[in-house]
Amino acid sequence: AAPVIAIDGPTASGKGTVAQRVARALGWHYLDSGSLYRLAALGALRGMAGPMSLGDCAAPSPDADEAAIAAFAARLPVRFDGDRILLDGADVTDAIREEAVGNAASRIAVMPAVRAALVDRQRAFRRPPGLVADGRDMGTVIFPDAALKVFLTASARARAERRYKQLIEKGFSANLPGLLRDLEERDRRDASRAVAPLAPAEDAQVVDSTALGIDETVERVLGLWAL
Ligand code: CDP
Repeated sequence: AAPVIAIDGPTASGKGTVAQRVARALGWHYLDSGSLYRLAALGALRGMAGPMSLGDCAAPSPDADEAAIAAFAARLPVRFDGDRILLDGADVTDAIREEAVGNAASRIAVMPAVRAALVDRQRAFRRPPGLVADGRDMGTVIFPDAALKVFLTASARARAERRYKQLIEKGFSANLPGLLRDLEERDRRDASRAVAPLAPAEDAQVVDSTALGIDETVERVLGLWAL
């Protein structure tokens, strides 16, 4: 099977950017597994997983119907078209990056049926010459035989500041104390869920990027691969 580099870590640790750059440097494929959870969450928020998944309250709740959301996740009607992401034909590239969708993704990611529904789709990204996969459970659940496992962390404060900059650059509004609060809540949810709780694989190399820039972090990971 094609080699895999798994890059896991908490929210806003920079894994997405780092994984993409490592993939480009090696000429490998790239899997942003979080985008699949975001797509499933967006579908649920938009009522695409059936009316039941929204509950009957005014504020749509993605927690309403695990089975419906899992069924939607299993048939996820997504197309990756260059750098655009189409969900049922609609361009959702920017929509899935909104904080509200990230929070909803983190809520449906605790559902075992939803996680199970996405396993095969994630493994299908593994193709020669290799795959760099970023997420929470790439090294523990999806690709336990990964050739290199990196667990990328940074302090909550540093991650909140990065997320803030990212959102402002994309033209979204953002507030730092609110982001820090959401991020700590997401950390707690990711770490305490029953299925695939966020933790480094036993054989993972932990990289703390609090004091590292993106370039240095990418170099560090490529250095680990070259070892
Ligand atoms: O890193 P961030 O939370 O901003 O977003 P993401 O990586 O796009 O993932 C969105 C949500 O999906 C996360 O909060 C996780 O709870 C969940 N997720 C997961 O459970 N397993 C993965 N392999 C990837 C994401």
